[in-house]
This record gives sequence, C-alpha cells and structure tokens, in this order.
Amino acid sequence: MGIDSPRVVATRAELRAALASAARPIGFVPTMGALHAGHGSLLRRARSENAIVVASIFVNPTQFDRPGDLAAYPRTNAADLDLCRREGVDIAFVPLVDEVHVPGATTTVHPGPIAGLLEGAARPGHFVAVATVVAILIDLVGPERAYFGEKDAQQLLVVRRMARDLAMAVEIVGCPTVRDPDGLALSSRNARLAADDRAAAPVLRRALVAARDAWVAGARDADSLRSTMRGVLAAEPRVRVDYVSVADAGTLAEVAGAIDGDVLCSLAAELGSVRLIDNETLRAT
Ligand code: PAJ
Repeated sequence: MGIDSPRVVATRAELRAALASAARPIGFVPTMGALHAGHGSLLRRARSENAIVVASIFVNPTQFDRPGDLAAYPRTNAADLDLCRREGVDIAFVPLVDEVHVPGATTTVHPGPIAGLLEGAARPGHFVAVATVVAILIDLVGPERAYFGEKDAQQLLVVRRMARDLAMAVEIVGCPTVRDPDGLALSSRNARLAADDRAAAPVLRRALVAARDAWVAGARDADSLRSTMRGVLAAEPRVRVDYVSVADAGTLAEVAGAIDGDVLCSLAAELGSVRLIDNETLRAT
C-alpha cells in the first residue's frame, strides 16, 4: 500500500495487470459507490484480514427495477476514492458497464427460491441481477474473501448460497450494520429523505428492537413478533409499510406460529419516495 493508493483501474485488462503482482490473500469489497461509514466498515475489516484490498465501485444497471432509481442513484466518485484511500484500499475497480456486462450477454445466475421472497418479491429480478454481477466481479478479482453488509441480509444470504452452490473458492464474510446514533441504518438513500421523513425514519429500528426485546423476554410466536413490529410502525403516520417479516433465517420462509430456530426479522417501508429496509436476526441459542 503506497501513499498514492488506491490504484484506480477501469478495464478488465488493467485489473488483471494490477492483480498479477498483487500479494495474497485478497479481500474484495463490491460497492455501488456513494460510500459512507457502512462501506467504510467493510473496507476496514477487509484491510485487517488480507494483504491486499480491492474495492469495486460500479452502479450495476441490471439490479435497478425502476429506471428513475438508477438515474437518481448518487454518484460521488471523488469522495468515494478519498474514502478508499483513507481505508487503505490498494486497488479500486471503477469500470464502465461494458467492462462488467459483456454486450449481448444472456447468461444469468438464479439463486433459487430465496431470490423471490421479501425484497425479491418487491423487486422482481433484483437478486438474479445481484447474483450475476457479484459472480462476474468475484471471477474478475479472484479474492480469497469477499465482504458484504448484514444491512442487506437477504443479499448476504443470496451471495453465500451462490458461492456455496457454485463451489466458488471464496469466503463470504458478513459485517454488522453501521447506524447513525438514532439507530437509522446508514444507506446512500438516507440523503434523499426530506427532513420530516429523516426524523421519522428511526422508527424502523425501534420496531426491530421491540421485537428483539420481546424475543429476549421469551416471546417465541412469529405472529406476535410481527404484531409488535407493526404496532411500533403504526405510531409513525409518515411511514408506509411494505412488509413486516419473521422468516426462517436459512430459507426466508415466513414462520407461522411457534418459532423453533433462528429467524430473520425484516421490514421495508417507504417515507416519501424513499424505500428503506432494515433487519435483525434473532438466534435461538
Ligand atoms: P451497496 O449498496 O453500495 O452496498 C455495498 C455493501 O455495503 C453491501 O454489502 C451492503 O450490505 C454494505 N452496506 C451498505 N450499508 C451498510 C451499513 N449501514 N452497514 C454495513 N454495511 C452496509 O449492495 C450493493 O451495493 C450491491 O448490491 C452490490 C453487492 C455491490 C452488487 O452490485
């Protein structure tokens, strides 16, 4: 790692050349840019566990279901590279679309049933696109480890499954969600919240904490946990709830009645035109 790090590469050929002489192990952090302290925590973890850190900054067009969302996605390249430098990233891969998605490509990665639930039900095709781009990026970088946030718990599950099912030689590392002091999970979308909506947004976290508190106090009924979360969310009229879920942590199948293993509590809600998600895993042991 030199003072001029990161080395910025834009093409597959440049990436290959930069990696040819790279030390091992390589830690890889895929991102869509608009980097914040949540991404920073992944980069720091990768830095602490590997000889080389590669970050990708690529706003993947195929995973946006609403065209307006893609156009509105924040692009903050200079600040992103600054954060990469501060976090000791060695190589930043910042490609144009054709360097990642070969023009005319028709091959995609289908993660199976978990891709159609929760976020996958709300955003058809999203996880096929995520799995496909992550597979391409992991193949290009060839890391020993790749880092993903628990903030996007379903994405982490999809990527873990893909790596396992396709026998990829990479360890998928999950990293805890980084939050603002009021509990709101950091997200590049938070910047688009109107002031009143930003003030209301921590109710998502409060709903999950209420479920966790009930769990710690011994509640083991999925319906009652869902009601607890809905009750907290209902107190905030600005929030339009999309889903409130208590699902099997492995399959994401919705749990009815008694809980007998680890569950993922997750929710999605809209504030104004901004859709937010958050989650909390409740462990049986
Ligand atoms: P992006 O939204 O940029 O997120 C990149 C990584 O940062 C993801 O693994 C995400 O879970 C993690 N992350 C985001 N906010 C976080 C927070 N508050 N705390 C901890 N980690 C957080 O997720 C994507 O990009 C894309 O789908 C991608 C995997 C890059 C494929 O295009």
